[in-house]
Amino acid sequence: MQVIKYVFQPHGDDRGQLIALEEFRDIPFRIKRVYYMYDTAKDVIRGFHAHRHLQQILVCIHGSCKIRLDNGKEKKVVPLEKPYEGLYVSNNMWREMYDFSPDAVLMVLASELYDESDYIRNYEDFLEYVENCDDTAAKGKGE
Ligand code: TYD
Repeated sequence: MQVIKYVFQPHGDDRGQLIALEEFRDIPFRIKRVYYMYDTAKDVIRGFHAHRHLQQILVCIHGSCKIRLDNGKEKKVVPLEKPYEGLYVSNNMWREMYDFSPDAVLMVLASELYDESDYIRNYEDFLEYVENCDDTAAKGKGE
């Protein structure tokens, strides 16, 4: 499994840094939804699901956290600690987010609107689904 991390271009000057993210330029899909997590309680692990179709880019725009990715065959842990780094999370990918610093703000850019029917929340169901599914967006990106 290849981890796909984007390094965004900061527009820095004497005043500080600015990052702009545009769909299809900086982000490989149409951005239909943005959400973010903050004030995450100590030792909390979030996620525990995969998506049938949704793709995401995760950016820890403040503080730090870790992302565990699992494609059903292999697992990888990716630290996110820079506001200019984005982690691509394909569909058919189990994810867990943990080790949030108290000041962490984790922003998610998503390719779809919120749709509960797109979630796979049971790990055994996920393993069965990916075993029988040949529709992973990341395959075209060198998975
Ligand atoms: P949840 O799916 O538990 O978050 P995660 O799995 O990333 O830890 O979402 C928490 C709550 O927020 C849940 O009640 C659903 C709601 N929610 C929305 O209304 N819209 C959204 O886009 C998301 C991601 C969650």
